[in-house]
Amino acid sequence: MSSRYGEFPGARPRRLRTSPAMRRLVAENRLDPAELILPMFIREGIGAPVEISSMPGVVQHTRDTLRKAAVEAAEAGVGGLMLFGVPESKDAVGSAGTDPDGILQQGIRDVVAEVGDAVVVMSDLCLDENTDHGHCGVLDDQGRVDNDATLERYAEMARVQADAGVHVVGPSGMMDGQVGVIRDALDEIGRQDVAILAYTVKYASAFYGPFREAVNSSLRGDRKTYQQDPANFRESMRELALDLAEGADMVMVKPALPYLDVLRKVADTVDVPVAAYQISGEYAMVEAAAEKGWIDRDRAILETLTSIRRAGANMILTYWATEVAQRL
Ligand code: PBG
Repeated sequence: MSSRYGEFPGARPRRLRTSPAMRRLVAENRLDPAELILPMFIREGIGAPVEISSMPGVVQHTRDTLRKAAVEAAEAGVGGLMLFGVPESKDAVGSAGTDPDGILQQGIRDVVAEVGDAVVVMSDLCLDENTDHGHCGVLDDQGRVDNDATLERYAEMARVQADAGVHVVGPSGMMDGQVGVIRDALDEIGRQDVAILAYTVKYASAFYGPFREAVNSSLRGDRKTYQQDPANFRESMRELALDLAEGADMVMVKPALPYLDVLRKVADTVDVPVAAYQISGEYAMVEAAAEKGWIDRDRAILETLTSIRRAGANMILTYWATEVAQRL
C-alpha cells in the first residue's frame, strides 16, 4: 500500500505477535515460581481450617493444614512463605506476638522443620494480629499509636521469631526506625543471618479490607497516622532511603497494582531485591468479578502478576502463589 508517507506501513510490529511460539520467544517478562511468595494464616484454637469469606480459596490454617499447604507450595516451586499468626486471645500490647509459644512462633517452627530447606520462611513482624484494638503498635494514654514503645515490642518480636527459626522477618507496621531497631535486636543475639524484608512503601489502603477478616481484626479507627497517604509519591523515596540506611536487605511496595508507578521508581533506584505485595483486596476483586462471570479469572491473575513483574518487582507476594506456580 502506498500513501503520502511512501510505502505504508513501513514497520509491522504485528509480525512479532503472529503465533504463540513467536509471542513466547519475544516476551520481555516472564513469571517464575521461585519469585512467588505465599502469604499464609495460622490460627490458634481451631480444629479445622476456617474459610475467609472475603477471600474465596484462602483459609486460616490449623498447625496441621499449614504444614500440608507449605509442602504443597514448596513442591510447586514457590520461593517463599510469609506467615501470619492469629492468636486466640488478644490484648492491648499484643502479648501473643512475643510469647515464645505464641501461634506464629509455633507455625514458624513447624514450617521450617517441614520445608525450611526448600523455601525461604518469612514471618510478619507486626502487632495488629495480636492486639485487641487492632493497631500495629501499642497505644499511649491518649489512644495514639506510640512509636517508640512499639519499637521495643518489635525488638522482642524479632528475637522470638528468630529463636523459632525464621529466615526472614517482615516488619509491616510502618513505625519510624523499625528496621534499625530490629536489625540491632537480631545482631545483639547473634542472629546476623536473619534477613529483613522491610515493608518500606506501605500505603493506608482500602484494599486491605479482607485481611481484617483473615486475622480476625476489629480495628478501631484507621492506620492513617502511620501508613502513607495514597496521594504521595516523594514520601516513598524518603521511606526507602531510611529503610536502606537502617539495614533493610530487601524492600517492599504495598499494595501492588494501584502503586505500579512507585514500584517502578523503587526498582530503578535501589540495588537490593524489590518485592511487591498483591494484597487481599486485589485478590478479592479478581475473584469476585470472576465469580460473576465478568472477567476471565485465570487470564486476569496472570495479567496482574505479569504487570507487577514488568513494573520491576523481583518477588511477588500473592495468595495465588501455589496455583500459579503449578500452572507455570
Ligand atoms: C499488617 C499487615 C497488613 C497486611 C499485611 N501486613 C494489614 C494492614 O496493614 O492493614 C495486609 C495484607 C493484605 O491485605 O493482604 N500486619
